Amino acid sequence: MDKLVIEGGVPLRGEVEVSGAKNAVLPILAAALLADGPCRIDGVPALKDLDTMLRILRELGMEADRTADGAIETEVVDPSRSRAPYELVRTMRASICVLGPLLGRRKRAEVSFPGGCVIGPRPIDLHIAGLEALGADLRVEGGYIVADGRRMSGREVYLGGAYGPTVTGTANVLMAAVLTPGTTVVEHAACEPEVTDLARFLVAMGARIEGIGGPHLEVTGVDRLVGTRHRVIPDRIEAGTFLTAAAITHGDVVVRGADPSHLTAPIATLQRMGVQVERLPDRALRVRALERLRPTDVVTLPYPGFPTDLQAQFMATLSIADGNSFVTEKIYPERFIHVAELTRMRARIRKEGPTAIVEGVDYLSGAPVMASDLRASAALVVAGLAAHGTTTVDRVYHIDRGYERIEEKLAALGARIRRVSDRDRGGGDPAE
Ligand code: EPU
Repeated sequence: MDKLVIEGGVPLRGEVEVSGAKNAVLPILAAALLADGPCRIDGVPALKDLDTMLRILRELGMEADRTADGAIETEVVDPSRSRAPYELVRTMRASICVLGPLLGRRKRAEVSFPGGCVIGPRPIDLHIAGLEALGADLRVEGGYIVADGRRMSGREVYLGGAYGPTVTGTANVLMAAVLTPGTTVVEHAACEPEVTDLARFLVAMGARIEGIGGPHLEVTGVDRLVGTRHRVIPDRIEAGTFLTAAAITHGDVVVRGADPSHLTAPIATLQRMGVQVERLPDRALRVRALERLRPTDVVTLPYPGFPTDLQAQFMATLSIADGNSFVTEKIYPERFIHVAELTRMRARIRKEGPTAIVEGVDYLSGAPVMASDLRASAALVVAGLAAHGTTTVDRVYHIDRGYERIEEKLAALGARIRRVSDRDRGGGDPAE
């Protein structure tokens, strides 16, 4: 298993380019199941989660290949298949987003029911209720959701839940509705930029969707969708992670290729912390932290609120601020696994219900730490960049699911970070 070894304390300087958004590409690739003819998706990052999605789509009769210039070309060659197997779905919850397009195009689906998740319970009741509201017949059998969409028609679908709207649930309902006769009205749709990007891709294929970007969507079913070409939006969470890496190291970094309009809440939070964030032309952001960081409060919320996927990285950064910060998680109230590992690095963080009270310390101290999920791992890397001494982040495969060449990008900014694999260490000690 690979590890990242970081010698902290170097202020990051230079320019870094953001990759395409993982959470936009995943549903967009699934949506390519709906097309008659080939699709080309540009700006696709090389990530483990995308490899998993490609394997699932091949199981579902799609040819999908990466091109040398970072695109994926797809074409459905065998529409008779409709089963997304447990062996693949269990490795990635986002696989559930093949359910909508399978129902929409093939009117039937068998998708393994996603299991538990380290960031807390992640039910799919809203996906199921949304598809049932469209008239689909869904039942759970042998660990699979077995769905029949032959009686689907345009109806009203409400997608709000106790923790706000659902991102992949909205994607599923949209993808099921675009080829369903009649008008589907989706209320309380998720407004995340990744949902908007999916809707734009569907429209480019010939779908009729009104209200894109907002919580009220109207979809008029069409008879067929055609292949198209689409460039995915930049990854706002990767961009936000670089912003925190620059801030925590008191660096001076230009983040290129980001869409600042997707980062309003994280930028406002950094500014409250005394970090200078300047918008440059051509989708670039310059971030400079010249003074000791100030504490501030963070509450995660559905978009355009502060994203839960940046909560851990901001908590790491606030752990060396000059005072106390409150970090409240409203999307996943149990998403705090990074607290214990940050505490091993000398952070002072106390959890009370869905809130972490972060008492800023003068410095973090490097330590061996364990990655547990994608964003928690990113937070440990961010902390390691600023910590005194050496931080070793174990189980890096979590990071590789969502960050493309993270150590290369950070090293280009001057960070002393390297990947060590068991192979490099002559086979290594698995217990190490
Ligand atoms: N929820 C329900 N019922 C449902 C669906 C969701 O109660 O049927 C709850 C969830 O438990 C959670 C909240 O609603 O409390 C929001 O969940 P949502 O469905 O929006 O999350 P998701 O679509 O499963 C996507 C991202 C996550 C990101 C969330 C929130 C993808 C592939 N994943 O998940 O990204 O945290 O939206 O923005 O798009 C990550 O990239 O690290 C990641 C976890």
